[in-house]
Amino acid sequence: MKLTIAKSAGYCFGVKRAVNMVYQEAEEAKVPVYTYGPIIHNEEVVRDLKQRGVHVVRELKELENLPKGKIIIRSHGISRREHEAMKACGFEVLDATCPFVLKIHRLVEKYSKEGYRIVIAGNEHHPEVEGILGWVEGQPAYTVTSQEDIEKLPLKEGEKVCLVAQTTFNYNKFQELVEIIKKKGYDISVLDTICNATEERQTEARKIAAESDLMIVIGDKHSSNTQKLYEISKKECANTYYIQTSKDMDYHQIQSINNVGITAGASTPNNIIEEVSKNVRNEL
Ligand code: F3S
Repeated sequence: MKLTIAKSAGYCFGVKRAVNMVYQEAEEAKVPVYTYGPIIHNEEVVRDLKQRGVHVVRELKELENLPKGKIIIRSHGISRREHEAMKACGFEVLDATCPFVLKIHRLVEKYSKEGYRIVIAGNEHHPEVEGILGWVEGQPAYTVTSQEDIEKLPLKEGEKVCLVAQTTFNYNKFQELVEIIKKKGYDISVLDTICNATEERQTEARKIAAESDLMIVIGDKHSSNTQKLYEISKKECANTYYIQTSKDMDYHQIQSINNVGITAGASTPNNIIEEVSKNVRNEL
């Protein structure tokens, strides 16, 4: 039997960096440590951090009644207003915003100051997009996900427009939107700000699932990127399992299988991936 574990399984660079920062602060800080929102979409990790004394702050107004300490911004990033409000409340702000997201903040700030209208290809309700919108200077910005959204933009021909993308936006869909918006006669600057970590993970999952008789996808049930990995894998391999922890899998059935594949969502910790792999190997 052969076991193939996706190289791209689990935390991407930005999430790894953010989670490590929180664990390090939990261990070393002499003051209370907070994260602004759960550091990742993984209940186990958030619970573990809670046991180490890290408290999740969900709204800025909570800060008024909390003992002062360090507050860590997660990889999605936040708006300038939130940043400043935290500092004004007397908290030390530790920024774990992914550098790829920070780059978008700097770009929309610069372009909006130069008079460009900002259009973001992305989900307006996603915290990353809300954060990006919060760095646009002095004018309304817009989010689009479809041709319909582009048709509705209240922008005029010849107007300076800057299009960026949410880091996890689908690459092909972005190219389609670029083609549509380019025909609108704007003075347009397109900045491809998509991060390829998601794309790579999906491509690898598709390839491994196609070569496997049984595929295991590990991740939190609320993680949308894990759900996507499951859908992709299931299409290639009907025998695909979606599990949250090692306990969710019945490993005995693996005995009769030739090729097993494993992948995991962006918020799945390494120790869970290792545990599942070890249990699979025990059945070899
Ligand atoms: Fe950063 Fe890309 Fe991950 S933007 S948080 S490395 S998905």
